[in-house]
Amino acid sequence: MAQFTETERRRLEAVYRRNRERWAEGELPVSELYHLELFNAAVARSGIAVPPLFPVGSAANAGLLYVLFRLAWEFPGLSVLELGAGQSSLLLDALRVAGRVSAVTTLEHDADWAARIGARVGHEVRHAALCPVEVAGIVTPAYATALDRQFDCVIVDGPIGTPTHSRLGALALIEHHLADDFVLVFDDAERPGERQTIERCLDLYPKARHVCVHAMKSQCLVFTEKFAALASFA
Ligand SMILES: C[S@@+](CC[C@H](N)C(=O)[O-])C[C@H]1O[C@@H](n2cnc3c(N)ncnc32)[C@H](O)[C@@H]1O
Repeated sequence: MAQFTETERRRLEAVYRRNRERWAEGELPVSELYHLELFNAAVARSGIAVPPLFPVGSAANAGLLYVLFRLAWEFPGLSVLELGAGQSSLLLDALRVAGRVSAVTTLEHDADWAARIGARVGHEVRHAALCPVEVAGIVTPAYATALDRQFDCVIVDGPIGTPTHSRLGALALIEHHLADDFVLVFDDAERPGERQTIERCLDLYPKARHVCVHAMKSQCLVFTEKFAALASFA
C-alpha cells in the first residue's frame, strides 16, 4: 500500500470541507468529542500525570492527542522529533517523564513561542529559524538546525501550514534523521497542502504502510512493518 486510495482521498477531502464549514460556524463534529473521550479515558486509567491540555484552535486536536498517547502506550521507548511546539509538546513531556517515550526534541521557528513552551517542559524545545531548501524540485521552508541523531518517530505539525506543498521541508529532515523502523505522524492531513507532502512521502517510502485518523482534523500515520499494529488506530 503506497499512495492514498481514492476512498482515502475522498474521506480526507470530506473532512477538510466539513471542518471548514463547521469551524466557521463554531461547531464541532462528534468525532472530535469521541476522540477526546478516548484520550481522557485512556489517560485517567493509565496513571500517567498529564497536565491540563487545551485542544482548541490551531493547537493539537483530540485526534492528535489520542494518536500520540496511544502510540507511546503501545510502543514504549520511542525517540521523538516534534516539528512545531504547543499542546502536543506538553503531552510528549509528560510521556517522557512517565518513561513511555525515551527522548523528545521539539523544533519551533517562532522564538517567543519556543521559549514559552520550553519553559513548561523538561525536554529541549529548540528555536530553529526557517530557511529555504529544495525538496523534490520545490523550494520550501525548512528548520535550519543540525541534529546529531536518528529518531523513531517524527511528528510533523509545524511550521504554519501553506496552501500547497505544506511542510514539505520536513522531508529534508526526515531523509537524514529517520531510523530504519519508523513512525511518521502528519497532522492536518486533510488539508490540500499537507496531502501533497504526505503523497510525496509515500512515494519516498513505498514499502511503508499508512492509516488516517479523522476527527476535527485528520492525522496520517506512515509506518514500517514493525509498527503494523498502528493500522488499527482508526
Ligand atoms: C499547528 S501549530 C503547532 C501545534 C502544536 N503541535 C500543538 O500541539 O499545539 C503550528 C505553529 O503555530 C504556532 N503556534 C501554535 N500555537 C500558537 C500560539 N498559541 N501562539 C503562538 N504561536 C502558536 C507555532 O509556531 C507552531 O509551530
